[in-house]
Amino acid sequence: MNLLSLLLFVGIATAYGPTGHHLTASLASHFLTPTTQAYLLALARHAHTPGYPPDTVQSFLVRVAPWADYIKRTRGWAWSGRLHYVNVGTGVEGGDWPPQRCEFAYELPKNPGDGEDLIGGIYNMTTHLSEGAELWRLDNATGAGLDDVPLRFLVHFLGDLHNPLHLTGRARGGNDVWVKFEGHRMRLHGVWDGGVLNKRIRELEWARAEEEDVGGVVEVDEGRGYVWERYERYLLHLIGTKFKDEIDEWLECPSPELERGATGSPIGPQRVLGMGDAGDKGVTACPEYWAKAISKLNCDVVWNHPSLNTTLSPFSSEADPPKVGLDDDDLSDGEYWDRIDTEMIPERLIIMGGVRLAAVLNAAVQGGVGERAVGGL
Ligand SMILES: *[C@@H]1O[C@H](CO)[C@@H](O)[C@H](O)[C@H]1NC(C)=O
Ligand SMILES: *[C@@H]1O[C@H](CO)[C@@H](O)[C@H](O)[C@H]1NC(C)=O
Ligand SMILES: *[C@@H]1O[C@H](CO)[C@@H](O)[C@H](O)[C@H]1NC(C)=O
Repeated sequence: MNLLSLLLFVGIATAYGPTGHHLTASLASHFLTPTTQAYLLALARHAHTPGYPPDTVQSFLVRVAPWADYIKRTRGWAWSGRLHYVNVGTGVEGGDWPPQRCEFAYELPKNPGDGEDLIGGIYNMTTHLSEGAELWRLDNATGAGLDDVPLRFLVHFLGDLHNPLHLTGRARGGNDVWVKFEGHRMRLHGVWDGGVLNKRIRELEWARAEEEDVGGVVEVDEGRGYVWERYERYLLHLIGTKFKDEIDEWLECPSPELERGATGSPIGPQRVLGMGDAGDKGVTACPEYWAKAISKLNCDVVWNHPSLNTTLSPFSSEADPPKVGLDDDDLSDGEYWDRIDTEMIPERLIIMGGVRLAAVLNAAVQGGVGERAVGGL
């Protein structure tokens, strides 16, 4: 590989790609309550950038979804870089080491929003968003509470939470591991950021699903020329059909007691409005519980390949990437891909992220008022 293509890979491999974020945000936009829609539209109008008319909630959410990746290395925003992932005690000898051990031992700080990682970021931004929405609900004429930065981060972070490689520290979330995918040498992280999803979008038979009803629950904006638009219709179709009965489960957030009973060890209080020990300020997000389940995919799927089942602890510099995972198997083929395909892993993850994002936004914005979401979730 020459230096130029190496640099290109470094560039694309460091974040959950824009397509995953676009899809998560766009799916969420179909399941918002009227109050949430009104607040997001107020944010969109307030943040209005020339050339981007804030016309619909869907286009606003899609547009802001990748933003956190674009700014994380720019002046003034460096603090946000570490909020894109969570690193839970990685170690060859003990602790998290996929595919041998997926141990999501997260220690929730006393104030969950102080955690300088993805989970802390989700708590922090959910809190800020609900504070802004509360000000706006009290008086929507003054412009109070119309800072859209917490929303931008939150939309992005719920996307990152649904990429398993953002939930393990091994080889910097797979950034230091090189594999072959569709004939190209890529970082494992890059495969799961864009490679898998792009292959899906190209190959799935969504053209057939497009003619079917998208479930009868949602309105879809007119096309805007995104490469994923028809795939999104397919996902909406799956929400109304194949995954219909699983979605309630995906929105669950057990109280700490339940969680303790089930696993024997607490993973920290789940802060949900009206549930568990939400304390004086309930924050409706369930990131540890959700992350714990998703992190298991690192063992079951993402690192589940003989060439990745090593105890090597690769340390890389861009000039000398480690020789791990470089056997002749192409991950877009064979058993590895079959599993992704038959279990519809990419579709599950995107849909989980989308419906959870909608639920978090609704709960944060409406402040506990029971309103029914438009899409019926
Ligand atoms: C929480 O958000 C504020 C900005 O709204 C930021 O200054 C602070 O660093 C954030 N902290 C964490 C841990 O995310
Ligand atoms: C602002 O609040 C008023 C009164 O509560 C309401 O009638 C109006 O629809 C609200 N405007 C928006 C944009 O939500
Ligand atoms: C990884 O390798 C170990 C021993 O080398 C083996 O016991 C284990 O089953 C392997 N795990 C996977 C997921 O292949």
